[in-house]
Amino acid sequence: MLMNQMETALINSPPRRWLQRWYEVPWLRRLGGTLPADARVLEIGCGPGYGTRLILDQFGAAHVDALDLDPAMTARARRRLTKYGDRVRLHTGDAADLYTSIGATDAAYNAVFDFAIVHHIPAWRDAVAEIARVLRPGGKFYFDEVTARALARPTYRLMFDHPTDDRFTADQFRTELERHGLYVGDRWRAPIGGDYLIGVATRREVTRQP
Ligand SMILES: C[S@@+](CC[C@H](N)C(=O)[O-])C[C@H]1O[C@@H](n2cnc3c(N)ncnc32)[C@H](O)[C@@H]1O
Repeated sequence: MLMNQMETALINSPPRRWLQRWYEVPWLRRLGGTLPADARVLEIGCGPGYGTRLILDQFGAAHVDALDLDPAMTARARRRLTKYGDRVRLHTGDAADLYTSIGATDAAYNAVFDFAIVHHIPAWRDAVAEIARVLRPGGKFYFDEVTARALARPTYRLMFDHPTDDRFTADQFRTELERHGLYVGDRWRAPIGGDYLIGVATRREVTRQP
């Protein structure tokens, strides 16, 4: 679901960039570490591309496929990321269907990043299934999410547009990850009493039946 005008302005603002750089990224690095030198990464809901820059510079990704549903956001990200050349590929499409959107095959990525986007997707469980599908065994899912608790607050409902059915608590999100073989363990935090959720999951090795 696309953002309304107010959220778009907020996402394009210096305070959003400050939060992402000085709070979210340090926590994600603490919980999940950086990436191997040749890591191929997918970022879903890249917005204006500031997070993509941090994935390249602070996590050490070799290459990032960055995807957003909103072509205006993809265009903004393209301008921001020009200097990285062919280390970044930008796509417009839906994170709940990564094959149609970007032709993503199974086990194609070492890591997937979600900076506050899955709560925007009506079929968020499909997005989780897609993330698990495109991650290699041992690959990492870095997530930073807004839970049903925050979305139900009057300020959120007044200021922003989000899907209202079937939103998730921190526990429900982690349970859905586990159901798709994305192991979280104790690598998560739920700040502000559970309004937000930040963590890292590892794609389990696929065990073959004899
Ligand atoms: C809250 S913004 C976060 C943007 C950026 N990741 C950040 O942290 O600043 C959510 C972004 O997800 C995008 N989005 C919403 N639904 C999407 C979907 N189904 N697939 C891909 N992107 C989506 C929106 O267009 C928006 O840019």
